[in-house]
Amino acid sequence: MLSLRTVVLSVLLTLGTVDASGRERIRLNQYWRFKRWEANPDGVVYDKRQDTPGTAQVLKPWILPSANNFIRDPAKHYKAPSAKPIASIPYLSLTYNDSSWEQVELPHDWAVKGPFYTGDGVIVGGGMGRLPIHGIGWYRRKFTIYPEDEGKKIYLDIDGAMSYAIVWINNNLVGGWPFGYNSFRVDLTPYVKTGSYNQLAIRLDNPIQSSRWYPGGGIYRDVWMTKVDETHVAQWGTFITTEGATAEKATVQLSVQVENSAKTARTVQVLTDVHYFDPKTRKPGTAVGSFPLQTLTISAGQKQTVNTSLTIQNPQLWGPSPSQTPHLHVAVTRLVVDNQTIDTYSTRFGIRAFNATGTGLFVNGQRIYLQGVNQHHDLGALGGAFNRRAAQRQLEILAELGVNALRMAHNPPAPELLDLADEMGFLVIDESFDCWAKSKNPNDFHLIFADWAEADMRSMLRRDRNHPSIFAWSTGNEVGEQTDDTAPIANTLSAIVHSEDPTRGSTASMNVAKPHHPFASALDVLSINYQGEGIRDTGPYAPFPGTRTPPIYPDFHKAFPSALILASESAATISTRGTYFFPVANLSSAPQYNSSSPTLRQVSSHDLYSTPFGASPDKVFRAQDAHPFVGGEFVWTGFDYLGEPTPYYTARSSYFGIVDLAGFKKDRFWLYQSRWRPEVKSVRIVGHWNWQGKREGQVTALHAYSSADEAEMWVNGVSQGKRVRKKGEEYRFRWDEVVYQPGEVKVVTWKWGEEWAMSVLKTTGKAVGLRVTADRAEIEGDGDDLSFLTVEVVDADGLVVPDAENATSFAVQGAGQIVATDNGDPYDMAAFPSKERKAFSGMALGIVRAKRGSGGPFTVMVTSPGLSGANVTITARCVDQWECERA
Ligand code: GAL
Repeated sequence: MLSLRTVVLSVLLTLGTVDASGRERIRLNQYWRFKRWEANPDGVVYDKRQDTPGTAQVLKPWILPSANNFIRDPAKHYKAPSAKPIASIPYLSLTYNDSSWEQVELPHDWAVKGPFYTGDGVIVGGGMGRLPIHGIGWYRRKFTIYPEDEGKKIYLDIDGAMSYAIVWINNNLVGGWPFGYNSFRVDLTPYVKTGSYNQLAIRLDNPIQSSRWYPGGGIYRDVWMTKVDETHVAQWGTFITTEGATAEKATVQLSVQVENSAKTARTVQVLTDVHYFDPKTRKPGTAVGSFPLQTLTISAGQKQTVNTSLTIQNPQLWGPSPSQTPHLHVAVTRLVVDNQTIDTYSTRFGIRAFNATGTGLFVNGQRIYLQGVNQHHDLGALGGAFNRRAAQRQLEILAELGVNALRMAHNPPAPELLDLADEMGFLVIDESFDCWAKSKNPNDFHLIFADWAEADMRSMLRRDRNHPSIFAWSTGNEVGEQTDDTAPIANTLSAIVHSEDPTRGSTASMNVAKPHHPFASALDVLSINYQGEGIRDTGPYAPFPGTRTPPIYPDFHKAFPSALILASESAATISTRGTYFFPVANLSSAPQYNSSSPTLRQVSSHDLYSTPFGASPDKVFRAQDAHPFVGGEFVWTGFDYLGEPTPYYTARSSYFGIVDLAGFKKDRFWLYQSRWRPEVKSVRIVGHWNWQGKREGQVTALHAYSSADEAEMWVNGVSQGKRVRKKGEEYRFRWDEVVYQPGEVKVVTWKWGEEWAMSVLKTTGKAVGLRVTADRAEIEGDGDDLSFLTVEVVDADGLVVPDAENATSFAVQGAGQIVATDNGDPYDMAAFPSKERKAFSGMALGIVRAKRGSGGPFTVMVTSPGLSGANVTITARCVDQWECERA
């Protein structure tokens, strides 16, 4: 149980003293109590749904007003009933004894620890990841407000809660936000008590059949308490644009919305200085200039906006890596009344010019071919709970692959992910919805679309508009309204985009809409899913029912010659890391059924196999190269994700990733890298050579990925022939007639007539031991930072045994913790927190952290019966001396 002293101490520690800036933003992630129920425990519900029958009191009328700040027409604002809801709920009260509830820290995903539901007819099936996402969850936390905060505004800012969040403070319902992917604010001010405990209570309700992938459950992002003067910069109240910027000169436009919730009018000076953002300290660095001072008089209870601009000579531009550098700036806005700073608000931004054209996307005048991937929000074994390091690791792996663009499929991400994209130089499509008024699942967003679409759209735009990485706003993915005779929703949502951000265009992904559909005309950027490379348009796909589309880029280009066209989803290739089935299709793209194993629930990693509507990477590349006006592609997907395990819905996670769920590279990694980073001197042999006793004398095709022009393969010294690649037609080297015999495969490649890269693949000896490697040997001792440990099963020569499935076991000595384990196998049903993990295709993953408040080394030991084990030592840097000394 939390003692009173612990709570007071924690509150004191996190609060500190009021600083000169006039604004405090306190992370409220510790000391929560949590409980989840599968049946309604409290007699309330946001709104009636088919899965919530009964007499529960509907709270929707009291929640809707939370949307008002994001509804433009005041006549459409919601008004809460004057009476309070009648339901009395014990969990709201300060005196309720929640000591039996689980103690949790945010970000928290209540479902990720499992266990997985297995088999058929389960409440959460493969589509939503087989994890217990459903039910009602209550979160409770106490906090104290001190006398010096008297008269301040006290807001609660929730970065993301899945889903139907309803917030109470001291027994008073203050608001909520149904959509689980948006961030929102509620105003606690009228109900907080100074000098005594305040009780927060948050109710979440996560429906079954509400998503096409794993949504997670719980308060899965940060929660903040913001304390400000009654007159302050409004929520997401700044907007900075830099249209027309060049390396010589940039005119930076700033707007600041000031909210005066005082009972009297106030005259406020608005001052904003611009600084470089220092990537090392992640803080404002040297000053660059100041916007002209503005003075405002704002009446009581009103908001007012000032617009101003500043010209910067020779600005440091933001641009995508690696061709440009993602320089960032910070605008520090101060509100001054009677020579006193009453609020300070920082806005990070980038100076850059986008030009979306019919021949591609230009950033600062340079055409950038979009080498993009789609990413869902889960972080593999960590589930939906956001973790900065886990997200950063994903982006580092993608950058190594050559990715320069991300599509946030299909909902707004954690704000920190956009921060990382800005800092690391990725271009971004930020996306709001997977469906509109027409459903894809019985309990999905369509249920609340009519009430919330405008508010959800505007809140995403306002939260994210200062991120320089975002070049387009997507209003939807493959929505059911695409082929309607009229496009009222598409037009309305595009108009909302334009009204909030005149500098960047709207888009929405089209897998069936054609250029003549009104839907297409409602968009600025034409995002095409799969139709670009053609859907079911080649022989092997002919038997499959469904839409059939020849490569459609020319049709869109003809109809909209000046619009940016891109493949917002391409490929949908499926594969399992390190898994190979034979025969290999003698085709350059084939439906999945040619080489997959329904018994093993795995798909061959030859990267030729796709969903019936998809294509191999090779087919996509050919279509892209044949249509050079296309801006690029976003592969479905960069990483495997939880849920949607096409084609095996008895599995838990997807087969689409270029990288598996554990973050291990599949063969495709080198296929995309050879295209996107042709300067990398490498060759990857696709397959392994450990078929002893299984394939002797049988044709065992081998392929190789390299950016070279020519390649030759030898098996045990015998040449299998030289291959010369046809540019624009072939993207891999193939030896489809190779016959297996144990030994050694060697591939040498040449480019421009010179030797380029060489690789050797050997039949390994039997497994004798483990090797463990940490991605980082030093981490922060803050309980958040992570080290990712790769475990490999090796033979006596240290070669990874590619088909090893040995059981491994993780243990820690010292102040470290094993957070989760995985191996990238979509069909592995061991719960993620398990310390026991079987290797898959020779590898396993351990995710470890240092205990909060620790400093110094800890050791992780990995063992396996019959093999020699391996250890790795990680050193935690003490972040808080006081806590480290106490530990
Ligand atoms: C697309 C859809 C994605 C994903 C993908 C692979 O049609 O937009 O969300 O479902 O197919 O199945």
